[in-house]
Amino acid sequence: MAETAFDVVVIGAGPGGYIAAIRAAQLGLKTACIDRESRFGGTCLRVGCIPSKALLDASEKFYHASHGYAQMGISFDGLKLDLAAMMARKEKIVEQLTSGVSGLLKKNKIEKIVGAARFSGPNMLEVTGADGSKTAVTGKHIIIATGSAPMELPFLKYDGKTVINSDHGIALGKVPESMVVIGGGAIGLELGSVWCRLGAKVTVLEMLPQVVGGGGGADEEAARGLEKVLKKQGMTFFLQAKVTGAKDEGGKKVVAFEWEGKQMTEAAEVVLVAVGRRAFTDGLGAKEVGIKLDERGRVAINDHFQTSIPGVYAIGDCVAGPMLAHKAEEEGVACAELIAGRAGHVNYNVIPGVVYTNPELAWVGLTEEQAKAKKIEYVTGKFQFRANGRALCMDEAEGFVKILADAKSDRVLGVHILGPQASSMISEAAAVMEFAGSAEDIARTCHAHPTLPEAIKEAALAVHKRTLNG
Ligand code: NAI
Repeated sequence: MAETAFDVVVIGAGPGGYIAAIRAAQLGLKTACIDRESRFGGTCLRVGCIPSKALLDASEKFYHASHGYAQMGISFDGLKLDLAAMMARKEKIVEQLTSGVSGLLKKNKIEKIVGAARFSGPNMLEVTGADGSKTAVTGKHIIIATGSAPMELPFLKYDGKTVINSDHGIALGKVPESMVVIGGGAIGLELGSVWCRLGAKVTVLEMLPQVVGGGGGADEEAARGLEKVLKKQGMTFFLQAKVTGAKDEGGKKVVAFEWEGKQMTEAAEVVLVAVGRRAFTDGLGAKEVGIKLDERGRVAINDHFQTSIPGVYAIGDCVAGPMLAHKAEEEGVACAELIAGRAGHVNYNVIPGVVYTNPELAWVGLTEEQAKAKKIEYVTGKFQFRANGRALCMDEAEGFVKILADAKSDRVLGVHILGPQASSMISEAAAVMEFAGSAEDIARTCHAHPTLPEAIKEAALAVHKRTLNG
């Protein structure tokens, strides 16, 4: 390593960390980025968002080819799954993107340091390389962006084979005949969908009364709609299920749970535990140098991402807020800008959430339940995709767009989309909300025809009960 003293040292090369490092370097600060993994990109690129989307996209095509293309006039003889090829393609994408991150760091003259960082003083880190070598690295400013790790259930320890987390769930060597998914959040529904589409019998056990209900969660009506479609695709759901234990029997894992007052069991070849993630600060020595953690083990920060130690900041999954790559990115940029003396800011009211199932569920802003709890007077406008020409042509007409607008000002409070390409469409809603726009603003914006986003315009018109369809 040529240099060991920097203006900014970022610990963690996930979407929070590497984006913060790039922004700091762009603003003229001498920057280093440290990660224990040589493939930079963090959970998102290595074992999270990207590999799971590669499998979601591929398995969706397989599912359509085996279920839906015939009615479009496309039939196959001998359609078959080559799981090894599907996994190899996923790996190739991960490789391409992780080397892309290293390339971006190089281009921005950021020192890439591979090793495990531990605080040895308030502005000093000891970095241990894979070969055991130790290097002292100092930073006038240090940003902790160490991310998160899957939570474990005490009676279901991960063995990577029969009891798995998302890291294992994106790399199975064969399609299990049956899978129990514990947790009906984003990971449970996405990976449950992948293996269901590829032929596994998938049963989801969720503790709450709705799927995607944890941590603020999705609008109840939209979540119910998603559950209904996933049931049609073959997944089984037990909501308000209390998982009580598990045992091995006949080469399977038998999961015991309470449901509607009954003691139930579900046997499966594989149990995917997806009950949330925890902030990851293991081995960082944060507490030892006086960096305060909150009651849930997350790094405690103020509005400017500052920890309890001057010059040390934290962003992304290891601090409070939704554990989302794009939230971490926003924080990374804002934190670097504040360090550089600029006015970095994150609008936490406008952070989209997406579940990449088919149809996708995407939302931004308030749910109806949140608006009611805040006693906000609101009106809703809704439009079903089955009345959208493009969705019908695509044979993807499940779902709807729902807009919540302030009853007096018409300002858009929240948008919920269950439908095809909802993840892309939600950006229109986010942009309108960033500009404090109204439902009328959306309704008066010309949307190209025939396109899916016309459903957003129609929902906006429906806020005022003036649908084009009468
Ligand atoms: P999650 O918090 O989204 O969902 C976990 C679910 O498990 C909740 O619905 C919760 O009620 C349930 N649960 C907890 N304990 C349980 C128990 N003992 N029995 C039954 N159900 C139980 O967490 P998930 O899905 O593990 O994802 C982890 C994090 O990663 C989340 O913050 C999520 O937002 C993020 N993520 C985001 C994705 C996306 O944006 N598409 C994709 C994957 C993960």
